[in-house]
Amino acid sequence: MFRSLVFAAALLAAVSAAPAKLRRQAPAGVPDYVLKYAPLVYLHSKEQYFPSDIQAQLSNSIPRVQFNPVTNGPNPLSLNNLNSLDSGSWLTSKDDITNNPTWIKGVKPDNTGKTNNAVTAAVIVNDKGNGNVDAFYMYFYAYNWGGEVLGWSALQFGNHVGDWEHNLIRFRNGLPTEIWYSQHANGQAFKYPVVQKHTDGLRPYVYSANGSHANYAMPGKHDHTIPNFNLPGGALEDHTDKGYLWDPLLSAYYYSFDAGSTSFKAYGDEGATPVDWLYWRGRWGDQEYPKSDKRQVKLFGQARYAGGPTGPIDKQLNREKVCPSNGKQCILRSFLVPKSVEMED
Ligand SMILES: *[C@@H]1O[C@H](CO)[C@@H](O)[C@H](O)[C@H]1NC(C)=O
Repeated sequence: MFRSLVFAAALLAAVSAAPAKLRRQAPAGVPDYVLKYAPLVYLHSKEQYFPSDIQAQLSNSIPRVQFNPVTNGPNPLSLNNLNSLDSGSWLTSKDDITNNPTWIKGVKPDNTGKTNNAVTAAVIVNDKGNGNVDAFYMYFYAYNWGGEVLGWSALQFGNHVGDWEHNLIRFRNGLPTEIWYSQHANGQAFKYPVVQKHTDGLRPYVYSANGSHANYAMPGKHDHTIPNFNLPGGALEDHTDKGYLWDPLLSAYYYSFDAGSTSFKAYGDEGATPVDWLYWRGRWGDQEYPKSDKRQVKLFGQARYAGGPTGPIDKQLNREKVCPSNGKQCILRSFLVPKSVEMED
């Protein structure tokens, strides 16, 4: 009787551990828990700028330094030669971005959550030894729509070409303990047990804000401030909801990161996965247009078109705390809160 009960329990555990509907496409060697507990992202129902193929950004850009085309860089640019490009370069859209070219809209996930024919994420694993592992889930979008102050289109700013966002899940002996959600210049940290999860009870949900792609742990409205600009609460909001489900694992590159030597290594067939691009420290989008550019609007020091971001290497891949160190307090939250009810931190 006891034995059959144990058997039944084991069977039940095996059945419930089976990966529900979600497929996996990771190469050999990626720790199983990095996949099992990977975030699932809800893109907003009104999203116009979906996750985008990382290589496509290069194909649609010309590198520029101080707005002048770089003539001595690798050509054509690829994820295998990007790091030969001067790190002071800005990948600059070949098209005028104000015409909303198709490529900046990215790829809407299909009904399995996959961005077809587009590698839109990079998973980077930092094994710190002694059972301490940090897994970064880096999300790439070709374009960031910055939002409207007080919902007024004349006060629309903070757009930029190229957008890298991320989650970091901290593991201890193969179990997730903490999760970081990137949001604008900072983000939020939570204890793993408190965040919302997929029906498998394992994979955390992440809500990507409409346009800005800031990552939140909850659907709803989230106030955020603009650095160096004091606006009343609610003036600039991020909106998240259960729009489109995106499973970043279905179209991702997978790497390990060695902090001692600052080196990346692809999992699986090394020849099949580009690595060189991870070392590049330049910018993934256009430089902020000067005021003399007719596309630009500057109001109270804020630009309608801001400069593009740096890539994964610049996200502090070897953290002491789950938050990046940026002079701000790292608050590890034990309960879910929308950004708006918190004190600005
Ligand atoms: C979502 O973003 C689009 C621009 O990409 C904007 O036109 C729309 O008003 C936004 N909607 C919400 C609810 O934030």
